[in-house]
Amino acid sequence: VIPAVVAVDGPAAAGKTTTCLALAQRFGLSYLESGRTYRIIALEALRRRVSTSDRQEIVILCDDLIRESRDQDLLTSGRYGNEDLRSPAVNVAVSDVARIGEVRERVTHLVRLWAAGQERCIVEGRDIGTVVFPEALVKFYLSASAEVRARRRVDQERRGSYEDVLKDVIRRDEADMSRTVSPLVPADDAINIDTTSLTLKEVLGRMSSACAAVT
Ligand code: C5P
Repeated sequence: VIPAVVAVDGPAAAGKTTTCLALAQRFGLSYLESGRTYRIIALEALRRRVSTSDRQEIVILCDDLIRESRDQDLLTSGRYGNEDLRSPAVNVAVSDVARIGEVRERVTHLVRLWAAGQERCIVEGRDIGTVVFPEALVKFYLSASAEVRARRRVDQERRGSYEDVLKDVIRRDEADMSRTVSPLVPADDAINIDTTSLTLKEVLGRMSSACAAVT
C-alpha cells in the first residue's frame, strides 16, 4: 500500500515545522519531523562519545539506538527535549551524521514504516519528496533567503545571536546541499515556495490550496 503523504522539504529554518503543524491540524494529517531522528542520533553520539566522523561507529550506534528503542520509537520518542536536540553542538554533529548513507537508509526505512501505519500524513525533512516518498501526493519545497531564515529563527527561539544563527544556517545548507547521498534539492514535481517576502498566512494559503486539491 502506498501511504498518502504530503512531503515538505527545504533548507534550515525555512518554516517547515510551523507550516506542517498548521496543515496537519487543518487536514487531519499525522505529522513527522524526520530531522528529529537525525538529531537524536547526533545527540546520542555526543553523549556516548562516539566520533561523528567515524562512519562505522556511527552506523553501529544507529543500530543500537534502533534496537534499544524498538524501531519506530526512535522517530517519535518523547525522551528527548528540544533544548538538547537543538543545541549548537547537535546542529554541527547532525550534518556529519546525515552525510552517512547507511544512517540515511535506516532513517528512511523507519519513516516509511511509520507512514505505512498512518492513514494520511505530512512529513518534513530534506529528502522526503526526492528519496523517501517520490510518490507523495503533494510535494513542497520551502525556501527563503538565509538572512530572513536566520532572523525568523532568532525571533522564534530567542536563543543565540543573529550572526551565529546565520552562520549555522549557511553552514548547514551548504552541508545538506553538497553531500553525495540524498543532497537537499527540490523534487522535479515539487511546488516551490520562496517565502522571503511572504507572510506565514500567505504561505499557508498556497500550501492549503494544493493540499485541498488532493486530500
Ligand atoms: O530539520 P532539521 O533542521 O531539524 O534537521 C536537522 C538536520 O538533519 C539537517 O540539517 C539535515 O542535515 C538532516 N536531515 C536530513 N534529512 C532529512 C531531515 C533532516 O539530512 N530528511
